[in-house]
Amino acid sequence: MNTEKPFRAIKSFVRREGRLTVGQQKALDTGWSEFGLSLENGPLNLAHTFGRQAPCILEIGFGMGRSLAEMALAQPENDYIGIEVHRPGVGCLLKDIIEQQIPNIRIYDQDAVEVLKQCIPDHSLAGLQLFFPDPWHKKRHNKRRLVQAEFVKLVLQKLQPGGFFHLATDWEHYALQMMEVLSAEPGFSNAAGANEFAQRPISRPLTKFEQRGQRLGHGVWDLLFEKQS
Ligand SMILES: C[S@@+](CC[C@H](N)C(=O)[O-])C[C@H]1O[C@@H](n2cnc3c(N)ncnc32)[C@H](O)[C@@H]1O
Repeated sequence: MNTEKPFRAIKSFVRREGRLTVGQQKALDTGWSEFGLSLENGPLNLAHTFGRQAPCILEIGFGMGRSLAEMALAQPENDYIGIEVHRPGVGCLLKDIIEQQIPNIRIYDQDAVEVLKQCIPDHSLAGLQLFFPDPWHKKRHNKRRLVQAEFVKLVLQKLQPGGFFHLATDWEHYALQMMEVLSAEPGFSNAAGANEFAQRPISRPLTKFEQRGQRLGHGVWDLLFEKQS
């Protein structure tokens, strides 16, 4: 008898099927065909997807999506791809896209690691942002953290030369891990200087989790790395 367990990659999330509001469900029903993207459709043609050639910035784990919507409105010259597995968050962002007529965002509702591997062409992104990823703070859960050497290599592969990787966290232990892993990757350089955290750029709106962290008195650490040309 084969007693080996089938290989299962460790996920950085646990799907919490929160309840959708009526408005979020309606946004999913009416907006998904226009603004939703799917792993099953394979590699993306960015110019075709957005109907133009523009710098494309990808955000992993946008939560309820308010800060992504704000950025896309403030920077209409860029295109944005948001990835989130939490359905109410996807519904919430779609609702904003429809109500505020935001033309430059598309959404995946699947695992960002798979989306990067299967759908995002190499050297295509002007930037990738990861704001307040789940900290998985218990030691035995640390292995679920997204920011590990293999993930950082994948991000590097997807960025254009000179493209940025912007991260923020309110969990100091994770901030130090991010700094260590990113600093060890020779393809990236730290825009703030070796081993330095970055100032919070004004282009990054306060996110929902950041506001929660502020209420709890947490610090915030931003990291800004660039892919070497
Ligand atoms: C702590 S929340 C932060 C949300 C948002 N960035 C903010 O600051 O308010 C992290 C989010 O990342 C999402 N997430 C975690 N791993 C993911 C993955 N592999 N692919 C897509 N979304 C992921 C979770 O569903 C969750 O909503």
